[in-house]
Amino acid sequence: MQEEITEREEDENAIPIHPEADFEAMRKAGRLAADLLDYITPYVVPGARTGDLDDMLDKFTRDRGAVSACLGYRGYPRATCLSINHVVCHGIPGDKTLEEGDIVNIDVTPKLDGWHGDSSRMYCVGERVSLRARRLVDITYECLMLGIAMVKPGATLGDVGHAIQKHAEDAGFSVVRDFCGHGTGKTFHCQPSVLHFGMPGTGVVLQKGMIFTIEPMINAGKYGVKVLSDGWTAVTKDKSLSAQFEHTIGVTDDGCEIFTLSPKGLHRPPYAV
Ligand code: MF3
Ligand code: CO
Ligand code: CO
Repeated sequence: MQEEITEREEDENAIPIHPEADFEAMRKAGRLAADLLDYITPYVVPGARTGDLDDMLDKFTRDRGAVSACLGYRGYPRATCLSINHVVCHGIPGDKTLEEGDIVNIDVTPKLDGWHGDSSRMYCVGERVSLRARRLVDITYECLMLGIAMVKPGATLGDVGHAIQKHAEDAGFSVVRDFCGHGTGKTFHCQPSVLHFGMPGTGVVLQKGMIFTIEPMINAGKYGVKVLSDGWTAVTKDKSLSAQFEHTIGVTDDGCEIFTLSPKGLHRPPYAV
C-alpha cells in the first residue's frame, strides 16, 4: 500500500511517530475534509442525486488544490463514499437519489500537499427520519467522541475500542467488526489498525506523534456485513440501519488534537443550515 518511495526504508508494520511539522500539514488536510463536509450539508436533501453530490465534492476538492485519495484507490471509481441506510460504508455515488427519511454517511479524504484528511459524518435527509434512526446516529456520534476522549499517551487502543463498544452495546446496537480505523498521514492507510471494540489495557500503547482515524460503524441490528458484487458496497447482513462518524486525530502531550473538526460547528445532525 506504500504509495511513494521514501528516502529511508519504512517498515510497513511500524507506527509512524510524527513531528510538529507533520501535525501542521495534517491541520490543513483535516481542515479541508471538514470544510467539504460543511459545504455539502445544505445539499443533502430529498431528491439529491448521489453522483451529483460526489461531483460537487470532487470540484470543491480540486478548487482547493487537492485531490481525492479515494478516486482510483484500488480501482474505486468516485471521489467520495455515500452510504445510505443499511449501507455500512463504501457506498459508490451514482444515479441513486436521496429520499425523505434516509440517513446517509458522507466520507471524504482529500489529499492536500501529500497529506490525507479523512472524515465522515451522518446526515438526516428531510424531516421524517425515524426516532430509531436518529438515536442510532446520536449514539454513533457519541461512540466516536467517547473513543477520542480515551486518547492520550500511555492509553491503549483497547481502551478506545472498549469505550466505543460499551456505549454502542449498552444502547442495544452492535459494532461492525470487518472495518476499522487506521493510521494515516502521507499514506492513506497505515498502522495502527484501530478496532472499535476491545478490552481496556490491551493493544497498542499510544504515543505522542501518532496520527490515526477513529471511525466506528454501528449497526441497529447485528454486526454482520457483506460486500455487494460491485466489490465495494458493504451492507448489513440483516438489512438493519448502520451509521458512522470519522475523525482524523493526532496524539499530543496530554490528549489528542482533532484535525477534522467542523469550523462551522456542524458536528452532528440536526445541522442548522
Ligand atoms: N475514507 C475511507 C476510510 O475511512 C476509505 C474509502 S476507500 C474508497 O478509510 F476507496 F472506498 F474510497
Ligand atoms: Co478512514
Ligand atoms: Co474515511
